[in-house]
Amino acid sequence: MDVNKVYQTDCIKGLKQLNSNSIDFIITDPPYNKDKDYGEGINDNKSKQEFKLFNREWLSECYRVLKEGHHLYFSCSPEQIFYFHHLSFLEGFKFRHLLIWSTNECRGHMNERTWLRSYEPIFWIQKPGKSYGLFNNYPFSALDVINISSPHVNRKGEDKKVHIAQKPLKLFETIIKKSTKENDLVLDPFIGSGVTAIACKKLNRRFIGFDLSKENIEICNERLSKVKGNIKGWI
Ligand SMILES: C[S@@+](CC[C@H](N)C(=O)[O-])C[C@H]1O[C@@H](n2cnc3c(N)ncnc32)[C@H](O)[C@@H]1O
Repeated sequence: MDVNKVYQTDCIKGLKQLNSNSIDFIITDPPYNKDKDYGEGINDNKSKQEFKLFNREWLSECYRVLKEGHHLYFSCSPEQIFYFHHLSFLEGFKFRHLLIWSTNECRGHMNERTWLRSYEPIFWIQKPGKSYGLFNNYPFSALDVINISSPHVNRKGEDKKVHIAQKPLKLFETIIKKSTKENDLVLDPFIGSGVTAIACKKLNRRFIGFDLSKENIEICNERLSKVKGNIKGWI
């Protein structure tokens, strides 16, 4: 499979084409099963059992393709923390820490009888082995609570909202820069609008991305075409 490309495919099919122990780092943002409209034919309202099987499958494939001692980060909703802690343990991963992406503003329209949400948890897990990274040339004092505003339709530049569940570029850049070296190969099985690919292109990391949606792949390629990269083979 060529690198520095995003592929329109089911991530399980895409992952199965990758060699075992070939990926340096995985960062991703899987569907939360909250009935979001990701596009035609993409089911974000699976039964509990289907959702569990799906999560086990992508986690298990990520475990296989990741090099030993290397790391995987993924976001989830607060109610899924214990669920994903359990599933990733079952697949063989070691839990490292939970980061918090805090937006300092209310995200979405929540019921008035509950707390207004302003953060999302980000899992940090590791495939057992001699630990790779972390590279403290990136702010040595980087904290585990990362404050960055959410992408918004009215925002100009890199965080102008083009995807229903878009993450801010700086968030992924921060994590990738701290955890990888130049030229490392980074994978995102649910790439959406391409935040991982754009961060990699800016930081001179190689990447592979998958998404089921044709529209997302187009958005991703369009966004990538506006970013400068120095490593040979950029699309
Ligand atoms: C939470 S969003 C990712 C958003 C992304 N981080 C961004 O900032 O734009 C999840 C993505 O997974 C994609 N998706 C859902 N099921 C998939 C599957 N089986 N294989 C690949 N992609 C899938 C959706 O189309 C959606 O873009």
